This record gives sequence, C-alpha cells and structure tokens, in this order.
Amino acid sequence: MLPFITQSKKLSAGETVIFLVNSVNDLPRDIFTTPELNYLSSSLKEKDKDLASINRLGKWLFVYRVGNGKTTPKKLEKFRKAGDGLLATLNGSKIVKIVISDLAARPSEALAMAEGMALGNYRFLKYVRKDVLEKEPSLKTIQIISKSLKSEQVERLNILCDAVYRCRSLVNEPLSSLNAEKLAREFERMGEEAGIKVEVMNKSRIEAMRMGGLLAVNRGSADPPTFTIMEYKPDKAVNKKPLVLVGKGIVYDTGGLNLKPSAAMDGMKSDMAGAATAATVVYAIALAKLPVHVVALAPATDNRPDGNAITPGDIITMMDGTTVEVLNTDAEGRLILADALSYAKNFDPMLVIDVATLTGAAMVTLGMIGIAGMHAGAGRYFRMVCDAGDTVHERIAELPLWDEYADLLKSEIADLKNIGGRYAGTITAAKFLQHFTGYPWIHLDIAGPSFLEKKDAYRTAGGTASGVRLLFEFASRLAESKQR
Ligand code: BES
Ligand code: MN
Ligand code: ZN
Repeated sequence: MLPFITQSKKLSAGETVIFLVNSVNDLPRDIFTTPELNYLSSSLKEKDKDLASINRLGKWLFVYRVGNGKTTPKKLEKFRKAGDGLLATLNGSKIVKIVISDLAARPSEALAMAEGMALGNYRFLKYVRKDVLEKEPSLKTIQIISKSLKSEQVERLNILCDAVYRCRSLVNEPLSSLNAEKLAREFERMGEEAGIKVEVMNKSRIEAMRMGGLLAVNRGSADPPTFTIMEYKPDKAVNKKPLVLVGKGIVYDTGGLNLKPSAAMDGMKSDMAGAATAATVVYAIALAKLPVHVVALAPATDNRPDGNAITPGDIITMMDGTTVEVLNTDAEGRLILADALSYAKNFDPMLVIDVATLTGAAMVTLGMIGIAGMHAGAGRYFRMVCDAGDTVHERIAELPLWDEYADLLKSEIADLKNIGGRYAGTITAAKFLQHFTGYPWIHLDIAGPSFLEKKDAYRTAGGTASGVRLLFEFASRLAESKQR
C-alpha cells in the first residue's frame, strides 16, 4: 500500500501528471492545446485557487501553481496537504501511478507533495475482509521529475514513509495481537531488516536489573514485560557519544486498579506509540545510513488490574534505588520510563530524548495539534529539535520545568510520589522523569497528536507516527551539523 516514490528525467506519454508551475506559461505546448491552456489559465486566475485540472477521456492532468516566495515550513505543509488532497480523485479513478512534474524548479515542494500523497495513502486493512477491495487505494507509484532533485533525497523519503507506515501499524495493532513480547519480536524483525543489533531483555533479566518501575506496572499483567535495546553504530558517526531515544511501550493502558472510565480507555492500545516511534526512527536512521550513533530503549508491558496488580499506596523501589509511593496506578508511563532513563546512563549519552503518550493533560493543553516539549541541560539540541519540528510540521510547544513543580511530587513516606495533584499534570510528569536523568535530556509528550479519531489530511485516522518524521529530521540535521 505504501506508494513507491521514484525519479525520472522525462515524461512519457499517457501518464497522469501534476505539473508544478509558476504560471501557465511554464506548461509544455506539445502536451496542451491552446484552448486547454486558456482554460487552465482562467481557472488559476480565480483568487485562492492553486489547482486546476483537465480530464481527457477519464485521464487527469493537474496543474498546481507554486506561488512566489521562498520555501518555508508553512509552504511545505501546504504541499503535503495538496498531495493528500489529490488522493481522493486519484484513488477514486483507480489511478496506479502519478507523475509530479516540477516545472517551477522547486524540488523541496515536489518532495513535500509526494510525501503528503504517500502518507495520506496509508490504511490499516490487515483485519478487513480481503474481498472488500474498494478500501484498498489504487495508487502505487509516485514519480518525481525535478531537475535539481538528488536521488539520495528520494531514497530518504521512501525510507521515512516506510518507517511512518510501520510505526502507524504497530500503534493500530490491538493488544491481543501485540503484547509486550510480540512488540519486542517486531522490533527484532525491524533490526534484522535494517542490519542492526537488537537485544530483548526478558522478565528474568529485567528482575536481575531490578527495574522496579517496569515490574510494578507489569504485576497485574498476564504477560511478561520486555525491555528492547536497538543500537545503530556506524563507523563514521558524527557523535562520539550516542543519541538515546527512549519510548513508552505500554501496549495497553487500562489504568490498572485506578481503572480508566470507558471513554478514556478507548484507544489505549496506542499507549506504546512512543516505543514504536523510538524504534522506527532508529530503523530509518540505519536504513538511510545516517552517520549518527543512536540507540532506542523500549520498556514494554500492559497496565491492568488483577489479583497481583500494584495498589494505590504501594511503595516500589526503582532501578536506581529511588523509592516511589504509587498513589495512582494510572500514572504508569513515568514508572517504566524512569527505569529506562536510569538505564540510559550506561551509554554515557550525548543526549537522551524520550517520547511518550504520557499525560491526558498534554492533550488538554495542545489538542491533537502539537507536542509538549521540555528539556533539561539540552538548550541547543532542544532548539534544533523544535526547528526540525517546524520543518516537518510536528511542532513542539515548550513548557517550563521550574524547580517548584518538583515540590508537588514530594512524599512523606518515600522519595517521590508518582502523581503531582490536579494541576500542571504534563509538567509534574516530566519533573518525575527528570529525577532519573542527569544528562542532557529532552522530553516529548505526544499524548495528543499520536492517535486520531478521524483523519486530518495526510495524518490518517488511528496511529499517526507523530514524532517519527521529527526525530528523523533531527538526526539528519545532526549528521550535517559541524558543532556537536
Ligand atoms: N496513557 C495515559 C495518558 C494519555 C491519555 C495518553 C489520553 C493519550 C491519551 C497515561 O498513562 C495516564 O493515564 N495518565 C494519567 C496521569 C494521571 C493519573 C496523573 C492522566 O493523564 O490522566
Ligand atoms: Mn495511565
Ligand atoms: Zn499510559
């Protein structure tokens, strides 16, 4: 279903094409008749109209006006959306291949349009009856013709779109077919495909490591927890110390004994979106051979009530020896992440970025539109990540990590409580995590944008893979930057 993006030097006859132009004058005279050109020109004269089309016996020729001005993040996003916007017509007419002919010398815009088309074409049809074929999109190939486009850019985009598809499908997979062990198995498969080292720690290893947070959350589960480590270490890495990505892998969050109400439990199969993001980003970096040493850590379990489940009031001991009074079993993500953040110290990391569907409060604050970002001691990297987010339109809004918020997590009978009270929930969750860091650290709360009830342009319904394009772009920039 993932359309393959290819590159070509020239246009063959009989294709479905979208021409990117500055004006109708750019269009080739041997393809369009004068009446057609007049028609297109008058269509595009209408205010706010960028797209015009003609249909010859069921075959489409589209013309898209690029508009003046330089390439900006906003413009790129407009092109992604325009690419997605064409899908209804293309798939509706059972078109298998489209050519993006860039007559305006705008390779970035052409790529963005291809990206929007490819990402918007995603469907999760694994469990849909095979004879219900009309759901399957017809589009299979997107060919770009653009003079200054490098083949490496096209190759990277294919890798990235594949990573986004994989991440979305992992998120969309329900618990019954993707518990912690099966998730780890998927990460191993991705590692094999990308030729990288993957280690899965099983329950006895996790016990030996004394990962008290992960084990506590797992206590109500019928399935054992896993802790996956994926590492890509190229010979010519630009970073001396690794970039470590940590992802929350709650394969299902019922809330535990602090059971979620029905409406809040819907969609909680997506509570492993952070782990899927971290793993697919490392997979994509390895396939693209970016010169970046990167590690993904993915602690995973479901969170359920059961005879053995942790109870509100339990005190647990984390991997680093910190004791935590668990006052709400639904604040479980921070417990498994804390152990992973402690474990990350073993890598002497250059930077750790955790990605997590951590708090409903982040969704209350930013809706499905943005990612809540916080950092400690990572100022320059944080700005780079935010810039990358603007470019790929996975934008980050920064929240403060002021000292006073840590006071809300003080416990009378343990080192920390796992909840900070009614207010500033996204920040207190991050403050809890910060306790287990001690290296440059960025926290990304993707609770809002990671999963959508209904499609938003090329962000299809269900898992969105929010964070994958962001972190891949950040790694690409890291690979190019001089000062590290
Ligand atoms: N996985 C949830 C957060 C979440 C909510 C993600 C909605 C996506 C959509 C997390 O484990 C959770 O339950 N958080 C609690 C924390 C509270 C008990 C302090 C929350 O946000 O309500
Ligand atoms: Mn929870
Ligand atoms: Zn959760």
